[in-house]
Amino acid sequence: MAIEPAHEYDQIHYDDAPSVETVPGPKTKRLLKQQNRLDSSAVAYPNDIPIAFEEGLGATVRDVDGNTFIDMFGGIGVLNVGHSNPYVTEAVHEQVDKITHTIDFPTEPRIELLEKLDKIAPGSLSGNNRVVFGGPTGSDAIEASMKLAKYNGNGHGFVAFRGAYHGPTSGAMSLTSNKSFKKEYTPLLPDIVHAPYPYPFGQDKTEADAVVDALDEVRAIVEDPYSGVANPAGIVVEPIQGEGGVITPPEGFLPGLKEITEDNGLTLIVDEIQSGFGRTGEWWASEWYETTPDVMTMAKALGGIGLPLSATMYHEDLDTWGEGAHAGTYRGHVVAMRAGCRAIEYIQDQNLLSHARDLGTYIRSRLREAADQSKQLGEVRGKGLFIGAEFVDANGDPATDLVDEIQQYCYERGVLVWTAGRYGNVLRLLPPLVLTRSQAEIALDIVTEAIAERSD
Ligand SMILES: Cc1ncc(COP(=O)(O)O)c(C=O)c1O
Repeated sequence: MAIEPAHEYDQIHYDDAPSVETVPGPKTKRLLKQQNRLDSSAVAYPNDIPIAFEEGLGATVRDVDGNTFIDMFGGIGVLNVGHSNPYVTEAVHEQVDKITHTIDFPTEPRIELLEKLDKIAPGSLSGNNRVVFGGPTGSDAIEASMKLAKYNGNGHGFVAFRGAYHGPTSGAMSLTSNKSFKKEYTPLLPDIVHAPYPYPFGQDKTEADAVVDALDEVRAIVEDPYSGVANPAGIVVEPIQGEGGVITPPEGFLPGLKEITEDNGLTLIVDEIQSGFGRTGEWWASEWYETTPDVMTMAKALGGIGLPLSATMYHEDLDTWGEGAHAGTYRGHVVAMRAGCRAIEYIQDQNLLSHARDLGTYIRSRLREAADQSKQLGEVRGKGLFIGAEFVDANGDPATDLVDEIQQYCYERGVLVWTAGRYGNVLRLLPPLVLTRSQAEIALDIVTEAIAERSD
């Protein structure tokens, strides 16, 4: 592995970001109009930020009109090593010219990725795991994890959490808590119960009490003979809830869930699709809580530069499936596997985990300072570069419009940020881990200015 100086993490960006004239520009408007005419009515993202991308490099992107942005949402948590990271694209080009689709026949990149994932696996999963590749999206990994837990356990139900997002396929949607997202498709999977996730903000309780209450509830669902849930197979949890609002559980929650699963012979499935692959400054967010999952789902950043790849890692004791018991045509995307290997190497070589921890601390401290100018900025949370800032009005109600205005203000000045939360009142930052300190300073100048300008 040799990363050329020109490809080091602070070198791989457009120098001129941010540089914005009029947004949306004329070419962007034309593409948006065409998209409106041709594409599905389900298209969502351009309704929040009307942008049409032309190219991207590192933590910067350009639209079709030549405006250049600092990207603080990174393809919604996918581009951890940055847009078109040259160390990754080099291998991708090579691989595309060799072979691209290999189902589950062995290839060197596949074996290399399995070996690399084993080395970076959390806790005792390292050295004791198996990995199944199925379909290419995160939801596919969630479906696989549920099948695996059912196959190995005595039950079929799951405990999931309020505020959870696990994807749009039927099983994943059953675990997801957003009612409007799923209400047209019920009945979904039966025997799924949503327990409270510890989320003390705005409630009259301490962090410790929030954990105790949440764990008591989960334990009751599993152990109370009259809880109504006859046959749970497992518990499915995001170690930090992403779509739910970067809800970062206090200490004790994940270990408490592990204890409940162990006491009751259940499988603990930790969904690392958004929180994993270095996002929080550890390879996996579960490491912050010193809890080893039985099963762990991964996707998003796994494909290196946004190539579709998901996987489910599980303890080798659960490796009981027979031949072909879990399948998927696209389970051998060898280009994405190669990209995943390169991304792991890049994160290691460039020390991006510790960089993410330091930069995350800096960004959170800038946001907390901004809270002095905005009474509406209620809480700043997260770990590493998984960052949320929740806004509420004087009555403590969600300040959704304010967050939309902040997002728009930033976009007009060349910084892309995203939102999250039950009511869309959380500003969510998921920048590539290659974001530099000086880019973060510029971006945070604009974000904090937006907060000061737009708050009451
Ligand atoms: C925690 C989590 N799980 C699952 C998913 C679903 O992944 P995908 O959209 O790739 O199907 C997402 C997507 O945002 C996610 O954030």
